[in-house]
Amino acid sequence: MPIKIFPNTIRALCALNEFPLMNRSNIPHRIGTPLSSTATKVMLLGSGELGKEVIISLQRLGVEVIAVDRYENAPGHQVAHRAYVIDMTDGLALAALINQEKPDLVVPEIEAIATATLVEMENAGSVRVIPTARAAWLTMDREGIRRLAAEELGVATSPYRFADSLQELEAGCAAIGFPCVVKPVMSSSGKGQSKLNGMHEVAAAWECAAAGGRVDAGRVIVEGFIDFDYEVTLLTVRAIGADGATHTHFCEPIGHVQVNGDYVESWQPQVMHPAALQKAHDIAQKVTDNLGGLGLFGVELFVKHDMVWFSEVSPRPHDTGMVTMASQEQSEFELHAKAILGLPVNVAMKTPAASAVIYGQHDGKVVSFEGVAEALQVHGTDIRLFGKPESFARRRMGVALASAADVETARSHAKAAAAKVKPVVEN
Ligand SMILES: Nc1ncnc2c1ncn2[C@@H]1O[C@H](COP(=O)(O)OP(=O)(O)O)[C@@H](O)[C@H]1O
Ligand SMILES: [Mg+2]
Repeated sequence: MPIKIFPNTIRALCALNEFPLMNRSNIPHRIGTPLSSTATKVMLLGSGELGKEVIISLQRLGVEVIAVDRYENAPGHQVAHRAYVIDMTDGLALAALINQEKPDLVVPEIEAIATATLVEMENAGSVRVIPTARAAWLTMDREGIRRLAAEELGVATSPYRFADSLQELEAGCAAIGFPCVVKPVMSSSGKGQSKLNGMHEVAAAWECAAAGGRVDAGRVIVEGFIDFDYEVTLLTVRAIGADGATHTHFCEPIGHVQVNGDYVESWQPQVMHPAALQKAHDIAQKVTDNLGGLGLFGVELFVKHDMVWFSEVSPRPHDTGMVTMASQEQSEFELHAKAILGLPVNVAMKTPAASAVIYGQHDGKVVSFEGVAEALQVHGTDIRLFGKPESFARRRMGVALASAADVETARSHAKAAAAKVKPVVEN
């Protein structure tokens, strides 16, 4: 069932700033024993590499975890108490599974899910969605979160237009000017995204968006290109403090490099101009206050000297935040797990560190990895292999982590370690 989001619904959701279900009674007061009548049950919707780490953190706290994904043996399936394969964009299938399992919390790990169903179920009081069903809905679509940030909250963003046809896109590009960036309203990891330098490239960008969109919503955003000095992910955590109130915590900024809209390396800390850091905190506070609920958010920001633009936000752990497995006292996954359970968090950094992605490099089903021992010979490194059952040349199959006295050394060690891992496929 294709997901279609109507502009009026988005405006209504943006304007809504009451959270009727966000009261303390929805937060588990104690943690039970898995697989018993006392179990605290959490259902992950999406069980990729980020979900896998959230699940491991939940498992350590004695939570019963149900992992859901659209394909068998997804990374998170392999570490959960139970695993299901369903089409999560199918609202009926999703509701049936939630009603069958009756989890205390539903934790979206990806964007492409039937969020309208989650909104209905949360409104009916039958489920608590992390951070809120409204946040999951608004952020699954670039239009929802962009209109919220720019039009409701007055946060600085790139100039933008939406288009439903090639003609509208041409008009949008003409209004925004060049260079500009065209993206499907529903896509991730840079899929279907192109940077345009002139009118002659608009038709190709429209085709690219149609081919790369996750769900064929037939709608794109065109954004003015921001010539930033660097971009950061500001991990922002909403968690309950000793006073019983919700507090916002900011991790040190994470710098990252994207190639064709996909993250290839990240590091923490990214040093920022003090005025830019203050603006980044203000923006993240405004956006996450509005989205509400409990948990960790990845706020993506573009920075030029002391200027900051909001780009987008994930109401969940962020891929660039994998570096926190090496750099922080508590990784972004542990922070998310603790915050959603109503537990206190510690966002302190431990050491400068970096992450570098290990790609599949080949297409094929039977995947193994050579060179892991050599990679781990590189000083201060660690490796995560996600256990994905199939490789594609540009599929993220693992990540190398490195800690060091400074970020530059950590980056070079992480990249050196990643380069030593060689995926091998048998077709
Ligand atoms: N308006 C823009 N100006 C400059 N760079 C951009 C712009 N939009 C996207 N990018 C680049 O592309 C990356 C991916 O875009 P993003 O909107 O975050 O898509 P995704 O949802 O696929 O992560 C960004 O992290 C940034 O490097
Ligand atoms: Mg992004």
